[in-house]
Amino acid sequence: MKNYIDKNRTRFIDELLAFLRIPSISARSEHKTDVQTAAEFVKTKLLEAGADKVEICPTAGHPIVYGEKIINPALPTVLVYGHYDVQPVEPLDLWHSPPFEPVIKDEKIYARGACDDKGQVYMHIKALEVMMQNNALACNVKFMIEGEEEVGSPNLAPFIKENKERLKADIILVSDTGIIANDTPSIDVGLRGLSYIEVEVTGADHDLHSGVYGGAVGNPINVLCEMIASMKDENKHITIPHFYDDVVIFSEEERAELNKAPFSLEDYKAYLDIQDVEGEAGYTTLERTGIRPTLDVNGIWGGYTGEGSKTVLPSKAYAKISMRLVPNQNHEKITALFQAHFERIAPKSVRVIVKPHHGGNPALTPTDSVGYKAASQAMEDTFGKKPIPTRGGGSIPIVALFEQELGLKTILMGFGLDSDAIHSPNEHYGLFNYFKGIETIPLFFKHFAAMKK
Ligand code: BES
Ligand code: MN
Ligand code: MN
Repeated sequence: MKNYIDKNRTRFIDELLAFLRIPSISARSEHKTDVQTAAEFVKTKLLEAGADKVEICPTAGHPIVYGEKIINPALPTVLVYGHYDVQPVEPLDLWHSPPFEPVIKDEKIYARGACDDKGQVYMHIKALEVMMQNNALACNVKFMIEGEEEVGSPNLAPFIKENKERLKADIILVSDTGIIANDTPSIDVGLRGLSYIEVEVTGADHDLHSGVYGGAVGNPINVLCEMIASMKDENKHITIPHFYDDVVIFSEEERAELNKAPFSLEDYKAYLDIQDVEGEAGYTTLERTGIRPTLDVNGIWGGYTGEGSKTVLPSKAYAKISMRLVPNQNHEKITALFQAHFERIAPKSVRVIVKPHHGGNPALTPTDSVGYKAASQAMEDTFGKKPIPTRGGGSIPIVALFEQELGLKTILMGFGLDSDAIHSPNEHYGLFNYFKGIETIPLFFKHFAAMKK
């Protein structure tokens, strides 16, 4: 199989570059046809790789691409999930090359979606081709590649509920996370959940002269800032009542184990160009992103932001706020707690509206499961080192839903790096990582089939 991959190396790269040229930004309605084009690309490539029953399934939003290769109903089935949609590209001026004109520099592919998640989805499509061409497909495989992950997968839940029979499998395999470093493989065994909220704060019903009224009328931007600031105490502990009620507390042993993962705070700060880190008192950086919840403002706006100055008391202020959640927090409960708290702390000088966006629950994968062991062995085969189980700080809300609706655990066998700049300007994906994925996935199938017996 290694031979086949080497022989087809250039084509495997060129095809991914073609995929990356499609600007499939799910959040933007002006890109709706591009998202559709990306779905068609996935369909075509799945068919070419040898999948059957490939279908673009329409949803109320962007479509889901389904395909399968059932070689023997007696064999175990792996359901591969990934997403072909990408994040918006702003700020554009910070990109060194246009986001949808991929370039290869220093052995890395630069483009939006290179790592998250087109590059990683495409590894699976090429792995299928490799297995088919070498008569080496060891399990049945199903593919479910969606186009709305980056907007919270609003239409995936109904799809799963309506397609339980079609999605029947033994394990879900996802490559949409990362490893510690190219010489330090790891597998995420936990993902944080997410609760995402937008708030609107209104003062007077129209903008006012900031001299005539300033100091006497509530300024919604000032008020919003004060409200946000009050939601963390001096220890960066979140002050929303009952916020921590369901948080699973790690034992000292578990914390020690988590902190064994290789991590250099000095390198971390240097990479981010910061003098110091910041976070909840009493926890390390790995703990802060892995096992502790957060509250962050993702965007805040209002008032005058144009050229020069305008003396004005704005009528409105807005913010988009996210909370990352850990086991066993529930996103609906946390959203409700936030809403009640935000409305309660609002002074009478303003009116507030809380608009919940999407959310998802945290997820865990046990390391003693067959799926984890198969992934661990496959990575050990190709990296020459046993992967370290890690806790990822990001969210893939659908993972908890898979467990709830299909009763299936998910293996997060991702190949990205934290430094790949996903969601940021100059997102990239290493050719090393791309080919490592293509090489490792067939071994997962092989070990999973053998261990499942
Ligand atoms: N692939 C990421 C999630 C991720 C990245 C997990 C790195 C672990 C390590 C995924 O595409 C993503 O960005 N998810 C969103 C959530 C979604 C609801 C917008 C996130 O985590 O912000
Ligand atoms: Mn992703
Ligand atoms: Mn993403």
